[in-house]
Amino acid sequence: MNGPIGVFDSGYGGLTVLKSIQKLMPQHDCLYLGDNARAPYGTRSFEVINQYTLEAVEYLFSKNCPLIILACNTSSAKALRNIQQNILPSKYPDKRVLGVIRPTTEEVGHFSKSGYVGIMGTAGTVVSNSYPIEISKFFPKINVIQQSCPMWVPLVENNSFKEVGGQYYIRKYINELLEKEPRIDTVVLACTHYPVLKNSIEKYLPKGVRLFDQGDLVAQKLVDYLKRHSSLNNQLSKNGNVEILTTEKSKKFDGHLNLFYNSNNQSRTVQIV
Ligand code: DGL
Repeated sequence: MNGPIGVFDSGYGGLTVLKSIQKLMPQHDCLYLGDNARAPYGTRSFEVINQYTLEAVEYLFSKNCPLIILACNTSSAKALRNIQQNILPSKYPDKRVLGVIRPTTEEVGHFSKSGYVGIMGTAGTVVSNSYPIEISKFFPKINVIQQSCPMWVPLVENNSFKEVGGQYYIRKYINELLEKEPRIDTVVLACTHYPVLKNSIEKYLPKGVRLFDQGDLVAQKLVDYLKRHSSLNNQLSKNGNVEILTTEKSKKFDGHLNLFYNSNNQSRTVQIV
């Protein structure tokens, strides 16, 4: 039986990726899962992120998703490789799980003229060094400067980024990044929550610095991937349906839904463990 594309994030952030997937692939059914009850992931240990991500992936497999996108940089950085190398081959040989880091790092070097790229992400993503490692494979001459932004996910999850305190933290991390290397001309929002802050971030970035968010790029790479993997594409259902699941109370989730994803969809609460 065919099934939807699973899209997973620790919370709301992956909705920015879901929106782009729907824009490019409106017929493909999608099943979104936000683990809001356990978000944020970014400050958690490697072991915990691995366990939480695997639980979410197995839940989406149990709902018949042949393919899952980890629309979360923290999970992509810390859990994807383990799932791809140690779990799928033995337990789910016909299923696929993809992340958001590879599609980004394959392209980002094309955009920088100065050769200095800034990565803004969660502490977990930054500590994993996934971005510098992956970018160096595709663009060995690019210099990567990282900045962790531990307050940004809570500001988004609590919708408090427009307040004075929220704006203070947005400016603070941008300044810290640029103090490390003023020649940065390309900044990657390496956390799927951050596009919500884009207007504010743009306000504080010097003119001429290009801001790069992942949603459309990840969706475009997914389209290309499915063209190359037509048998997987044939297993995906295509009725234009989107269902949104959260591990939090759905009422709370729906209160924030518009911020990320303007639609009338309503979420449903699920228990994944
Ligand atoms: N959206 C996740 C990411 O891309 C957020 C992380 C979190 O829960 O801290 O990294």
